[in-house]
Amino acid sequence: MSALLSARDVHKAFGGNTAVDGMSLDLHPDHITALIGPNGAGKTTFFNTVTGYERADSGSIVFDDKELIGLQPWRISRLGVVRTFQTPVGFPSMTVWENMQVAGASHSVLRNMLGRRGKNEEGELSARTDEILSDLGLEGILDTPVDELPAGERKLMEISRQLMSRPRLLLLDEPAAGVNPSSIGLLSNLIRSIHQSGVALMIIDHNLSFVLDVADYIHVLAEGRLIAEGTPDEIASSTLVRQVYMGVDE
Ligand SMILES: Nc1ncnc2c1ncn2[C@@H]1O[C@H](COP(=O)(O)OP(=O)(O)OP(=O)(O)O)[C@@H](O)[C@H]1O
Ligand SMILES: [Mg+2]
Repeated sequence: MSALLSARDVHKAFGGNTAVDGMSLDLHPDHITALIGPNGAGKTTFFNTVTGYERADSGSIVFDDKELIGLQPWRISRLGVVRTFQTPVGFPSMTVWENMQVAGASHSVLRNMLGRRGKNEEGELSARTDEILSDLGLEGILDTPVDELPAGERKLMEISRQLMSRPRLLLLDEPAAGVNPSSIGLLSNLIRSIHQSGVALMIIDHNLSFVLDVADYIHVLAEGRLIAEGTPDEIASSTLVRQVYMGVDE
């Protein structure tokens, strides 16, 4: 199995504060991959260096044979690497449908700027919106303004928006945060179905039972360094992970 994304010795500091301290990992598209670790471990900063929102100080991040470090975020997203944010973005007073259209339209604008104008753009956008909402079982909320959605459905909408651009690698930053425990199963199913449709996935989350359930492979980060990796069973039974990540003293 070859890696879709390979990070090697990635460093990122903010002033004297080292956020990512020599991270190396391979992401295999056949796995749903997770990145866990305590608050401030550097997880979001790593996503930011992958997506170009922060420029790594050194190291290499290769996606599909292309070096990402140094590329602008929009170029990285054009390569098919997209992410959600810890705090959902989008337009709260607009409906789910409208938010999806805006996300799709901005993707189209970019495509047009690059000279690949769609023939029937509006039709394409509508069809893509319908496809995603029905795949995700969200047809019932398409006319609901986003700020009226419960947190769980808002997270699903955020993921749906990112699917408009047909990503190859989707990075999810804390998708389960704020989601009602009764909706976590729905979120896991959604993530599995996105993965089965051929999108590679990497997930940051603090909800360990969710991560252990949905991920096939887990990397553990503490103070900017990877301290463990393995299958959910291996991570759940690792004494080091229990000590460093969960603060359990054995
Ligand atoms: N833009 C920034 N400017 C200065 N310091 C930053 C910036 N972004 C992150 N940091 C610092 O880098 C470190 C890693 O932060 P990061 O947000 O990556 O952690 P995290 O693992 O995502 O934590 P959490 O689980 O709380 O989201 C922290 O010490 C944080 O304060
Ligand atoms: Mg974070």
